[in-house]
Amino acid sequence: MRIENPKIVAALRELDVELRSRASLAKLTSLGIGGTTDLLRIKKHDAIPGLLALLDANGIAHKFLGGGSNLLVEDGELPWIALQLARPQPDVVLEGNFAQVDAAADLGRTVTFCAKHDLGGMEGLIGVPGTVGGALRMNAGAYGMQIGSYVREVKLYRASGRKLEILRGDQISFEYRHTSFAPDDMMLAVKLELPSKPYREILQGIRICNEKRRSSQPLGQKSAGCIFKNPPGASAGRMIDELGLKGHFVGDARVSDRHANFFVNAGHATAKDMLALIADVRERVHRAFGVDLENEVVMWNA
Ligand code: EPU
Repeated sequence: MRIENPKIVAALRELDVELRSRASLAKLTSLGIGGTTDLLRIKKHDAIPGLLALLDANGIAHKFLGGGSNLLVEDGELPWIALQLARPQPDVVLEGNFAQVDAAADLGRTVTFCAKHDLGGMEGLIGVPGTVGGALRMNAGAYGMQIGSYVREVKLYRASGRKLEILRGDQISFEYRHTSFAPDDMMLAVKLELPSKPYREILQGIRICNEKRRSSQPLGQKSAGCIFKNPPGASAGRMIDELGLKGHFVGDARVSDRHANFFVNAGHATAKDMLALIADVRERVHRAFGVDLENEVVMWNA
């Protein structure tokens, strides 16, 4: 979708929102898949209510883009624009055991920054790509921990009330790869409370998690992490592997040889390829195990 109306372009400038025309979502997502649309980069949280009122008044559909690391976007000219927060400097401010983190902050860099200041707990998240806002929305987790356990406060834009709000951690429910945020809530910042731990000890934990991840996941390849959620008490990756589907492909969309719940873009995969591969694998798992796998990856398709 293009924003060409000069009045809207001028209003965006007034709100200090940067308009990037014809952005390629393939370049903004870790899967390297997705069509083109205009991208609005938001520099100040306070501009958001005005910006969304402007978009609504002009009937411009929009989606909030985080780090693009858990996302499958459809091909072609997209029927909506993308909104993304620009990263402020600094993006993490520490006070005692609290870390005030902007949603646009890189998750891995946040974990290491806190570690260097003797704040631990998030070692498992090292190597998880994406932003802190994305991790928060999905309640990202790995190796026995999840980010939700450390959340004390969240600043967000609530589309339902059309305003910025601050929620306490205990007002939010964090479950396995799921939170109580509404789909159109936009994460802006989070206050984490992290346990004190000596840097050396945290580093040890980070090394162990890094090693486990390197040995079991296709880190150098374009992927969106795990495609399916694990059903209660089972592993989607193991089931797909047991069906002999590693290396199974549709076009350039391929089940990873290293971890069967990672589907990689092995060249020039399209969303159509990836969606067909996902549907095929889901169907085969259903036939063999009677289990309906639920998507873990977020899909922006019609
Ligand atoms: N397994 C196989 N074949 C495979 C993949 C896995 O047999 O191709 C087996 C493993 O040997 C192991 C079991 O399945 O016995 C579980 O595998 P793994 O430890 O890799 O964990 P997972 O359940 O597949 C989950 C998360 C990952 C997270 C890891 C580590 C989900 C859907 N996946 O994977 O998260 O990194 O644990 O904690 O919850 C993600 O969220 O995108 C993601 C990758």
